[in-house]
Amino acid sequence: IALEKEHPEFNDPNSPSKRVGGEVTKSFETVPHQYPMLSLSNSYSKEDLVDFESRLSKLFDGEITYTCELKYDGVAISLRYEEGKLVRAVTRGDGTQGDDVTTNVRTIPSVPLSLRGDFPSFFEIRGEIFMPKSAFERLNEERAEAGEALMANPRNTASGTLKMQDSKVVASRGLDCFMYSVMGEDLPFDNHWDGLHKAREWGFKAPQAKDKFIAKCKNIDEILEFINHWDEARHDLPFEIDGVVVKVNYFNVQEEVGYTAKSPRWAIAYKFATEQAETTLEDVVYQVGRTGAVTPVAVLTPVSLLGTTVKRASLHNQDFIENLDLHLGDQVYVEKGGEIIPKVVGVNKKVRKSDAQPIEYIQQCPKCNGVLERKEGEAAHYCTNENNCPPQVVGKMQHFISRKAMDIDGMGDETMTLFYKNGLAKNVADLYELDVLQLFNLERMGEKSINKLLAGVKASKEIPFERVLYAIGIRFVGQTVAKKLAKAFGSIDKLMEASFEELIAVDEIGEKIAESIISYFKDEQNQEIIQRLKDHGLQFEVEKKEEGEQKLEGKKFVVSGVFQSLSRDELKQKIEYYGGQNVGSISGKTDYLIAGENMGPSKRTKAEKLGVPIISEEEFIKMIEN
Ligand code: IVH
Repeated sequence: IALEKEHPEFNDPNSPSKRVGGEVTKSFETVPHQYPMLSLSNSYSKEDLVDFESRLSKLFDGEITYTCELKYDGVAISLRYEEGKLVRAVTRGDGTQGDDVTTNVRTIPSVPLSLRGDFPSFFEIRGEIFMPKSAFERLNEERAEAGEALMANPRNTASGTLKMQDSKVVASRGLDCFMYSVMGEDLPFDNHWDGLHKAREWGFKAPQAKDKFIAKCKNIDEILEFINHWDEARHDLPFEIDGVVVKVNYFNVQEEVGYTAKSPRWAIAYKFATEQAETTLEDVVYQVGRTGAVTPVAVLTPVSLLGTTVKRASLHNQDFIENLDLHLGDQVYVEKGGEIIPKVVGVNKKVRKSDAQPIEYIQQCPKCNGVLERKEGEAAHYCTNENNCPPQVVGKMQHFISRKAMDIDGMGDETMTLFYKNGLAKNVADLYELDVLQLFNLERMGEKSINKLLAGVKASKEIPFERVLYAIGIRFVGQTVAKKLAKAFGSIDKLMEASFEELIAVDEIGEKIAESIISYFKDEQNQEIIQRLKDHGLQFEVEKKEEGEQKLEGKKFVVSGVFQSLSRDELKQKIEYYGGQNVGSISGKTDYLIAGENMGPSKRTKAEKLGVPIISEEEFIKMIEN
């Protein structure tokens, strides 16, 4: 990245630096597809497949080989390569034109930016961009932690991610891509199977026989065997599939059987039946999380689905309930997608009683009667009674003591509930004023565990500021944001004084985070808690690194080679100690090159060419001792 900044003439759109994102697309350009992106005709029964095969055998006189592949549940993408370089990535759109999302697609690790091997000079390759189950779960955990509304499923999330303006966010989301067809003029193969295997050789992620993600089939029995295998095994895959695609393998046979207006006659998608169950909606209850986010939950008459009994299902938010037009006592359909939590997907309105009452979303917090607020552009409601709403208070304390935050040894989630219920702690500052006698009176608390707990509390006073900042639980301030804020402001006092403009001037701090920080510090109760934590000696300032006399202030050094009296790291530390800066590569702005043994000749040549003084280890030591 540094080299590209210094030498914009070498800036390559397919440089590996593009993987990390950074470019922002304000609006995606609509571009035409060179080859239309057709869809597939769907089948939902094995009979449809039998019909498909017999129809084709009438259209083509000879033996037909089929391929069976997984039907990935994501977003279709068309990639164009010229001379082995990715030049464009376009979404399906209406099939004739789509959105140019190249900048975002470049951040997906499984999409090669440069190809290897004997690729044709021009071709297009199509596939499906998806979000693996693990990435989806991680994202939702992060969102829950930051108090944001959860995403509904991996497919919608992949689709939304691809259209995000900031490619850095796209890069962080863990998208993946499987390819399913190669298109072009003089392709070096005459069938689909070989095409996908070639694509693997060039560097794409394409299915292979070894994983059983693709199979060659000669007849309907073999096709059904593949389908039956995946109908079961799909639940163990790390990504979601919603069916199997059966295709005629040879291109000449594909051409002969041809196309309808919308889809090829030579392919069909078999969709797995989604496991659904019908049951009664008995009630809607509301959960309140650590951040005050309210989640409505359907209470159902227990029903068996895919081997487990379903009693509850998430209803996400008010819009979700209204879109379903949910009434109390409704017969609802529940489904299990890739996610563990079942979801309500529909209502059997035919059996609804005429006097059934629509579900009215609550106006007040079910736990503390606090006022609920729904911010513009957000789906979730929040309880505004931050410091007195029991689940928020306990949740905040649980977050505070957690491993990534203050990591207080000897305390766990249950301890926090116990403390709260017994009136020992109502906020995080109370944890530093625990009454030992009261602790002894608690159930399950012996001398040993009390000592451990108190030692843990004491040790937490050494936890660095950035983690304390994360631990106090400001909405939208996760670990990364806390680090950035700590670095930018240096202390809680400076952060508390920061204006909205000063906050948003910090890299990656947007308006939403800035507003949340300001409103957190405006609250008098929060101010009091911070003051008490300060009084107890918690770290509210970035630890200052020891500094020497700033003899090398503003000077840029490149350290290269092997040294006698100091290691390379020690040399670098000395440079920083005396106020200098270590840089990775030589440019016109470098002040000194400290040359050790075995330094590469190109560094010396470059330094000489640019007139950068080359000094030895001894000369450097003299410089700082002088
Ligand atoms: S072939 C001419 N193969 O399913 C048909 N499509 O309507 C080209 N899909 O949105 C599609 N997995 O993105 C094909 N192995 C696979 C697929 C697949 C998923 C998607 C595709 C399209 C939809 C078909």
